[in-house]
Amino acid sequence: MNSRIRNLEEYHKAYQESVENPEKFWANIAEEFSWKKPWSKVLSWNFNAFDVKWFEGGQLNITENCLDRHLEERGNQVAILWEPNDPNQASKKITYQQLHEEVCKAANMLKKLGAEKGDRICIYMPMVPEAAITMLACARIGAVHSIVFAGFSAQSLADRINDSLCKFVITADGAHRGAKDISLKEIVDEALLQTSCVKNVVVFRHTEQKINWNESIDRWWHEEIADCSTVCNAVAMDAEDMLFILYTSGSTGKPKGVVHTCGGYMVWAGYTFKNVFQYEEKDIYWCTADVGWVTGHTYIVYGPLLCGATTVMFEGIPTYPNAGRFWEVIDKHKVNIFYTAPTAIRSLMACGDKFVQPYTLDSLKTLGSVGEPINEEAWQWYHEKIGKGKCAIVDTWWQTETGGIMISPLAHITPTKPTFATLPLPGIQPILVDSEGKEIEGINVEGNLCIKFPWPGMIRTTYGDHERCRLNYFSTYPNLYFTGDGCRRDYNHYYRIIGRVDDVINVSGHRLGTAEVENAINEHPHVIESAVVGYPHPIKGQGIYAYVICDHVLEDPNQSRVEILSIVTKMISAIAKPDKIQFVSGLPKTRSGKIMRRILRKIAEGEMNNLGDTSTLLDPSVVESIKEGALK
Ligand code: PRX
Repeated sequence: MNSRIRNLEEYHKAYQESVENPEKFWANIAEEFSWKKPWSKVLSWNFNAFDVKWFEGGQLNITENCLDRHLEERGNQVAILWEPNDPNQASKKITYQQLHEEVCKAANMLKKLGAEKGDRICIYMPMVPEAAITMLACARIGAVHSIVFAGFSAQSLADRINDSLCKFVITADGAHRGAKDISLKEIVDEALLQTSCVKNVVVFRHTEQKINWNESIDRWWHEEIADCSTVCNAVAMDAEDMLFILYTSGSTGKPKGVVHTCGGYMVWAGYTFKNVFQYEEKDIYWCTADVGWVTGHTYIVYGPLLCGATTVMFEGIPTYPNAGRFWEVIDKHKVNIFYTAPTAIRSLMACGDKFVQPYTLDSLKTLGSVGEPINEEAWQWYHEKIGKGKCAIVDTWWQTETGGIMISPLAHITPTKPTFATLPLPGIQPILVDSEGKEIEGINVEGNLCIKFPWPGMIRTTYGDHERCRLNYFSTYPNLYFTGDGCRRDYNHYYRIIGRVDDVINVSGHRLGTAEVENAINEHPHVIESAVVGYPHPIKGQGIYAYVICDHVLEDPNQSRVEILSIVTKMISAIAKPDKIQFVSGLPKTRSGKIMRRILRKIAEGEMNNLGDTSTLLDPSVVESIKEGALK
């Protein structure tokens, strides 16, 4: 494909073209994909009212680009290489030809059950190939998939099903996660007690554990799919038709359903995958994310398949049966490109080099990092111990809302610098602004990271509430998309993402809203009010520190802590459990009643004597008492 950038000069040329003539630039790239009908207008946009359309009038089906298009040339090449949780169980190889057939069968199964174009289908599955097959089957028939990470609680699942009124839930009996099995079907059953829109639950048999069965709703995957044809015509989708919804946390309220559309997302996923990782024919590529997160959507499924790559899908966890599992799998499948999160790198680094030493890792060419800032120590360890000093490291910055990678080195092309995501990809126009929205120009500066021009993979709306989307991303600073991240621009125009500047925390690469966690804590019958902040955590990047006011002095604070943790797990997920809970008698508030989180953050960080301006506090004695009781 000619949109492949091969050296730094080509990068600068592509970047310049993308800024000077974006429509021509993106039209050329989009032409490399297969369209059922050409577009009539490449781009129309307005950030203030928030209305962005790419490739309007064009029609396509992303699965024809992920599957059909490859059959002639690479029908027998492995598309999905599945590695199970249990290292003693055989891995599974699914060729493009087989994947095409499986997707068509699953699409026919969904149609048989009554799924139609535009229907929302919730996927709550373990990391098995059928999760990817279901995503593609939805896309094949024009249904909109909404994947919920299989670590979320019944309550979170119900909230997401209800928000987009999903007609079907596709799940499995259970999931293997390390030494544990998770009863997915049981969680779906519990979620369904709170929903009334689900017509059927399709259950893929995986762990073979015992499950409850509701004859009127539940259907076995293997029974339903058995007689389905391997031929299924792909529905023509308008470029701006919805492809998927993915819920993510913001600074206020409940998680919102980020909507991505068919045409722009496809172009962005394919273009970024090919260029950032510098994917070459026959490379074995492995992204360790879960399909429940955007990284799994774009860089396990759509991006690699659009480029005809072999994508590894791993069911397990990095530390099972021991902390050498990633490295064992890399040697076993001769992985060339490996993409993971800083939390995984830090936790494996903490386990010691003895888990790395048994493996050669000599197939590796490129290492990726995503989801949170990578600290210098972890970057160096990744580079030296895993990459043996010879692999390119791509620290890729992006978000659920951006659809794909935005700022990142191109592997082996962009000179890297530890902790810097380096340069924007072609088409991405970053700008740093101060709190008033004034542009911060020049080098060696810091500010709030915004993007000033649309790109094909960007969010189009939040499901069911366009105004919320506009307010969230486009109203803080007029005419700019606000990322929520703080960022530094260095002397060589490299960007370094510092972290969120809003009330979003990033725990082990998982994005959580402080309000979401507070709402869960407040469900405890004795909790009156709570405030949650992030603090630096050596492994997780950020930990969760909760300040909690109860209605009476607790006799057994530890018992109350256990109860709060269990409520948070039930309301959200175990990933949202606070690391520290401090019971307090009051919270630092301004005269207008706003919690001064800045002060709470400082205390959580242990910076007791450096609280900054406290003159607007309603009652300064509150701070003194919190400082005294602060947890180490
Ligand atoms: O704060 C940034 C951080 O993760 C946030 C986006 O989270 P989410 O939508 O869950 O998507 C994660 C996977 C793309 C961003 O606002 N983040 C993501 N990548 C990086 C990062 N922070 C620093 N460096 C990165 N490479």
